[in-house]
Amino acid sequence: MSTAEKTKNSQYFIELENDYGAHNYHPLPVVLDKGEGVYVWDVEGKKYYDFLSAYSAVNQGHSHPKIVDALVNQAQKLALTSRAFYNSKLGEYEKKVTQLFGFDKVLPMNSGAEAVETAVKLARKWSYEVKGIKGGSAKIIVCENNFHGRTTTIVSFSNDPDAHNNYGPFTPGFIKIPYNDLAALEQVLKEDASDIAAFLVEPIQGEAGVYVPDEGFLKGASDLCKKYNVLFIADEVQTGIARTGKLIACHHEEVQPDILILGKALSGGMYPVSAVFANNPIMNVIHPGQHGSTFGGNPLACAVAMAALDVVEDENLSERAEKLGQLFRNEIKKLIEKTDLIANVRGKGLLNAIIINDSQHSPTAWNLCLDLMKNGLLAKPTHGNIIRLAPPLVITEEQLMECVAIIEKTVLEFKKG
Ligand SMILES: Cc1ncc(COP(=O)(O)O)c(C=O)c1O
Repeated sequence: MSTAEKTKNSQYFIELENDYGAHNYHPLPVVLDKGEGVYVWDVEGKKYYDFLSAYSAVNQGHSHPKIVDALVNQAQKLALTSRAFYNSKLGEYEKKVTQLFGFDKVLPMNSGAEAVETAVKLARKWSYEVKGIKGGSAKIIVCENNFHGRTTTIVSFSNDPDAHNNYGPFTPGFIKIPYNDLAALEQVLKEDASDIAAFLVEPIQGEAGVYVPDEGFLKGASDLCKKYNVLFIADEVQTGIARTGKLIACHHEEVQPDILILGKALSGGMYPVSAVFANNPIMNVIHPGQHGSTFGGNPLACAVAMAALDVVEDENLSERAEKLGQLFRNEIKKLIEKTDLIANVRGKGLLNAIIINDSQHSPTAWNLCLDLMKNGLLAKPTHGNIIRLAPPLVITEEQLMECVAIIEKTVLEFKKG
């Protein structure tokens, strides 16, 4: 037995994952064992600030007691019924979320990718049965550098080679336009609107590197979609639930999408819960047997999600994200004046990124994340030289300033390898 195995230290767990798990991720070398609020601890007991929040799923903080209580109580009562029967949580959950997000109906799923798939199916079906597109030729406009998940259909319209290459044959029916380009959107709509079902967009491109579109892009896109009778689908799996300083990022421009996709923080990261929202003229095209999921809408998911949404409201997480996000970007701008290592900071609310002043494929961002980790803050590069910084929204101003100090110290002491 190796020493690592005897003591069950980080090395032991890293080797287990390397030996027995598919290598479809490249994690930072830290093995987490416990989480509470904005903190996580590794197996050696070292404490870190979590500045990834499981890709914005843990907006409510790790192991929030209200969400844990909801999970435990419901798990002891009833976890899964399937939709073959009604259950005593789903209806209450559906009423709560449709009222909160302002839609007639919700379709419950589990992962973000499943919810995007659901939205694609819903838009296509609507386009044949309501809009009247003929011959199975409906198209959906998407944006370059999108990230909507990992299923075969979704990677069909990804232009990230890692996500896309060698997964063909691909699903047809998608038109790609540049992000943040209303002229390109209008041109495609002008040429082809009678064959187009929807425009699918992330209000901020998170995975691509936290690209915030120009003010007016979302409103402009939504207006164009209305003009050409095309559905505006907002994928708010990452931007939703208070992350950007509003309940959903579309609210920054007072846009109500035709179809809204949520996941991740809908459960506070406690359990996979996703949802697709639409009004009756769209949602009612789906009839029994035409779409579903064994786990979608299960009582455990519903109880957890209701508690997670209560936390968002009770703890004013949108307002906190807005205020602390401003503070954070201002502090990082001050740091940029003292260093050449960071070229820029951008974001909205507490979804932010720093752009490292180096080539796209240099190891600088990764190495900086290793140093941040040593100094007690966990963040991860997204796409090359960009580091996303997205703490749980329950972070206090004092904690945030402590994190700014960690980032400042790490950046100023950093030596390029
Ligand atoms: C905008 C967006 N859509 C969809 C997804 C996919 O969600 P999941 O990983 O839960 O399938 C993600 C995940 O990062 C995302 O950021």
